[in-house]
Amino acid sequence: MRRMHTETGGTGQALYEKAKGVIPGGTQLLSKRPELFLPGQWPSYYRSCRGVEVVDLDGKRYVDMSINGVGACILGYADRDVDGAVKRAVEGGSMCTLNPPEEVELAELLCELHPWADMVRFARGGGEAAAVAVRIARAATGRDKVAFCGYHGWHDWYIAANLADGGNLDGQLLPGLLPAGVPRGLEGTALPFVYNDPSSLELILEREEGCIAAVVMEPVRHSEPEPGFLSRVRDMAAAAGAVLIFDEVTSAWRMNPGGIHLLLGVNPDMAVFAKGMSNGYPMAAVIGVRDVMEAAQKTFISSTYWTERIGPAAAIATIGKIVREDVPRHLCGIGASVRQGWESLGRKHGLKVVTQGIPPLSVFSLDYGEEAGAMHTLFTQEMLRRGFLSSRAFYATYAHTEAHVQAYLSGVDEVFGLLSTAVESGIVTDLLDGPAAHSGFRRLA
Ligand SMILES: Cc1ncc(COP(=O)(O)O)c(C=O)c1O
Repeated sequence: MRRMHTETGGTGQALYEKAKGVIPGGTQLLSKRPELFLPGQWPSYYRSCRGVEVVDLDGKRYVDMSINGVGACILGYADRDVDGAVKRAVEGGSMCTLNPPEEVELAELLCELHPWADMVRFARGGGEAAAVAVRIARAATGRDKVAFCGYHGWHDWYIAANLADGGNLDGQLLPGLLPAGVPRGLEGTALPFVYNDPSSLELILEREEGCIAAVVMEPVRHSEPEPGFLSRVRDMAAAAGAVLIFDEVTSAWRMNPGGIHLLLGVNPDMAVFAKGMSNGYPMAAVIGVRDVMEAAQKTFISSTYWTERIGPAAAIATIGKIVREDVPRHLCGIGASVRQGWESLGRKHGLKVVTQGIPPLSVFSLDYGEEAGAMHTLFTQEMLRRGFLSSRAFYATYAHTEAHVQAYLSGVDEVFGLLSTAVESGIVTDLLDGPAAHSGFRRLA
């Protein structure tokens, strides 16, 4: 393939321009859109990655202090132990008429780590696994409707929430998700409630008495549950005869080996895992209590590539390392250092910095109203110049060291200083080499 080089964004931006002509929306995952980071300048494509280091198509090297494979690579890129297990799986044949024994080992391992769960089904993506969980819950209860909060992927059951009110999903992580192509008949089947507001769920359960198949939620996202919130949800779901599903696609494996609900002391009826469990190789799991999971036999849930060997082999190796080396402890330490750095450097430069999230999934924002978007973009632009892939979010990996954090924070020190002067002088936009980053979902021009 011939590659061109643009003045600002290098070969990656030229390739991305080409991509938009052949791939609607440019990328397969919204969160990897270059416009969400640095329109026109983000390196966009990688040649190789290992540990925390990324090499772009022009051979430029960066330390990844952003979302590290969208949270999928907890151990760091190209982890040798996981890759070794994957290579052995490939050498033994990754696909066969017979089933890979690794899936039974993985099912047992997940049930061992989550003693409340009895059975497991597998898929290969998070949204897909959440859809499997919802289908099983609907089959188990014979009901149609789902109460939810948080983000759960692209599938019809979830995006249907925006058929009734285009803003229903706005408070749930990604604003602006459009329901075009989702059957109108699903209107009113996905009903959002508000995290940490049990009365918002209570209202739905009362209004829809006898109709709610499942309550689906992330046990933690940007904020911790208020004391008693999760157990209240647990009780309300049980009283309503609805299946409680914890979507742990992003929250699991980072604070503790398994779902974060184990730490929070509230067990669901089903839990969903995906990225994070297999360090970048496609794998997903739905675990659950026997009564509910057996309903998977009443409905057709079946897919060829859910039977390949690489995913379970990668997951067994990843989970083994997470447990053996107490990876969550490292992630919490690294995440806390980055967050404390943002906070203290914000104070040093008189910037209004707000942080949130569990330590391994830390996020900061600059609290400057309409100007914040341009400021965040300037942050990314200036950190990129200093050799860091950075955004407002930092997802810690086992490959990050305190030395990476210190090098990053000296960059942040300079850039926060620059931002502080820029905002005081009203020249933030003047310092941007391109437009401000997009936030949320929108159609590309
Ligand atoms: C909580 C949660 N559920 C579902 C998904 C969708 O997973 P995937 O992108 O693998 O389909 C995500 C992805 O970020 C997530 O964070």
